[in-house]
Amino acid sequence: MSNHPSQDPLANKQQAWSALFTEPMSELVKRYTASVGFDQRLWRADIAGSLAHATMLAAQGVISAQDMADIRRGMTQITEEIESGRFEWKLELEDVHLNIEARLTALVGDAGKRLHTGRSRNDQVATDVRLWLRDEIDKLVALLAEMQRALVALADAHTETVMPGFTHMQVAQPVSFAHHLLAYVEMFARDAERLADVRRRTNRLPLGAAALAGTSYPLDREAVARALGFDGVCHNSLDAVSDRDFALEFSAFAAIAMVHVSRLAEEIVLWMSQNFGFIDLADRYCTGSSIMPQKRNPDVAELARGKSGRVVGHLMGLITLMKGQPLAYNKDNQEDKEPLFDTVDTLADTLRIMAEMVGGISVKKDAMERAALRGYATATDLADYLVQKGLAFRDAHEAVAHAVKVALQQGVDLSALPLATLQGFHPAIGEDVYAVLTLRGSLDSRASLGGTAPAQVRAQIARHRARLAG
Ligand code: ARG
Repeated sequence: MSNHPSQDPLANKQQAWSALFTEPMSELVKRYTASVGFDQRLWRADIAGSLAHATMLAAQGVISAQDMADIRRGMTQITEEIESGRFEWKLELEDVHLNIEARLTALVGDAGKRLHTGRSRNDQVATDVRLWLRDEIDKLVALLAEMQRALVALADAHTETVMPGFTHMQVAQPVSFAHHLLAYVEMFARDAERLADVRRRTNRLPLGAAALAGTSYPLDREAVARALGFDGVCHNSLDAVSDRDFALEFSAFAAIAMVHVSRLAEEIVLWMSQNFGFIDLADRYCTGSSIMPQKRNPDVAELARGKSGRVVGHLMGLITLMKGQPLAYNKDNQEDKEPLFDTVDTLADTLRIMAEMVGGISVKKDAMERAALRGYATATDLADYLVQKGLAFRDAHEAVAHAVKVALQQGVDLSALPLATLQGFHPAIGEDVYAVLTLRGSLDSRASLGGTAPAQVRAQIARHRARLAG
């Protein structure tokens, strides 16, 4: 321990922060407060932000052209060291920012010490996280499109495949399997819209806010924003360093997307069970059991469903992290990173694997059709038929309820009841009734916009194809 003014405060940080401190940080505090173990992941964004800042400082005459050249040279070397795994991350240097800055100063001397002019780690970290997240958002946009394409491709092969549609998990009305799949395409399309919206608010530059109040140096924040591809600057310095709501809304987007994945995963699990037997999954997506030799389990789908829990949990964690934080920056904010990183990783991995797995689904059309026939799925069609013959819907509903009751007693489908029996429920019923009692007839009749008629479904597939081609 020395009380001499330090030549290089960062290099000596393992002893104490600055001349102000009379003793070094305790080991426990060092470990408790350090974030370098996880925030080193931001290194690329950190270097990009520093170079944009330094370039602007040089253009504004705050640092010299020589300083700028030295900083660039040092950062090039640091990039190589990190990429090759040779960079030595030091816990005593706390975080990614101080690690890189200290190494820069070790490499290029005084220019490294001038880099932090007009900047604070508070606006630096906020900038890094936004830059990093923006890139991840762009990758997720592509993955969401992949997911949708996989579903559309499967749908395309099954516009005429009939399955029972369910409400309350009870057979309701026949639907096209493609129609069912396209429901998920709609969900993921909305997720993509939400994500595009999150990107707009994420893509603003905090740098230049400094610690909280702005700075006395003649910074050109707009130039830094342009250099880093931001759409604009954060206009209030206090807000710039303390706002994490871009992370919250990203997290909300991710939680919703994972819930969509989870619902699809749940259906895949159900459909693959022996009781449904609607689909089979390629072996490469299944696992066996160590005790039951006959088992092929849809573990991937189950995990995707399960992992929605942690992403929803991260949303709760992040939103609670922000609650009650006074302006401006607080160290609490360091806790935003691990949940955010894990959210991105979990969602990206899950979308990637689910898109692949959907491509490996084989459909058991006959089983789907049998299931649709089993549950009196065309009862509404019979009621609609009677309405066309002039009955009020409520009367038709009642007549069909009687028909279903009799069919149930006899253990047959409505279409298996003889005409004479059907006419017993209402004399308006004629021979043409059998056309509406078939699954295909039922499907074709639901040709309202957004309905399940194969012609409608084909039109929707074309719309999605055009949208996803861009
Ligand atoms: N590692 C810190 C974080 O993630 C960087 C900012 C530190 N700022 C400070 N004033 N201690 O938030």
